[in-house]
Amino acid sequence: MELKQAIIERRSVKNYDYEMYIDEEKVLSLVELAAYAPNHGMREPWRLVYISKKQIPDFAEQVAESAFPNDKEKQDKYINKVTKVGGMFVILSKRDPRQKEYLEDQMAIGAFVQNLMLLVHAEGMGSCWKTPEFIFKPSFRSIVDAHADEEVNGFLYITEPDPNVKLMKRKNQSILTRW
Ligand SMILES: Cc1cc2nc3c(=O)[nH]c(=O)nc-3n(C[C@H](O)[C@H](O)[C@H](O)COP(=O)(O)O)c2cc1C
Repeated sequence: MELKQAIIERRSVKNYDYEMYIDEEKVLSLVELAAYAPNHGMREPWRLVYISKKQIPDFAEQVAESAFPNDKEKQDKYINKVTKVGGMFVILSKRDPRQKEYLEDQMAIGAFVQNLMLLVHAEGMGSCWKTPEFIFKPSFRSIVDAHADEEVNGFLYITEPDPNVKLMKRKNQSILTRW
């Protein structure tokens, strides 16, 4: 697939209204390719935890309890939604105590995840980066075994492609000026 085409056509897939199945081995094989993303000092600040389709119901139940304690309705809604997804990664990154290195590492995560999303797209699958509020909760961090020196940068849902996904037009105001 041509690069320009992949950049334009990759879209966040947000509708999971049918059972989604993906080629998990294929998806996992893309992770090392994504790691060709630039990262300063070659610190490779990323770590991914993969939750397979089979594991999602159990994982979702634990997450729902942590995210929405005492709210059965929200728990069920969450479980119902995520169990449709084909598989998911939890994205973790190094939490460097130094300001400059922290910034560099967080930016490298963006490059890494974009690489992964483009690769997933080029293989005919869909994805969506998700950053729900509950990723900061200590109880959630403990479910995904986030280390004390790691940030949780959200989830990457892997899905089937959605032929009806809309291109979110960019406003591109003030994107470029000449000095
Ligand atoms: C860091 C990051 C966090 C995101 N978090 C969410 C999220 O929590 N929920 C969601 O529906 N989409 C999330 N998205 C997806 C964006 O909303 C999406 O990229 C935007 O709607 C543009 O759509 P496109 O990717 O199809 O161009 C996130 C994207 C990024 C880059």
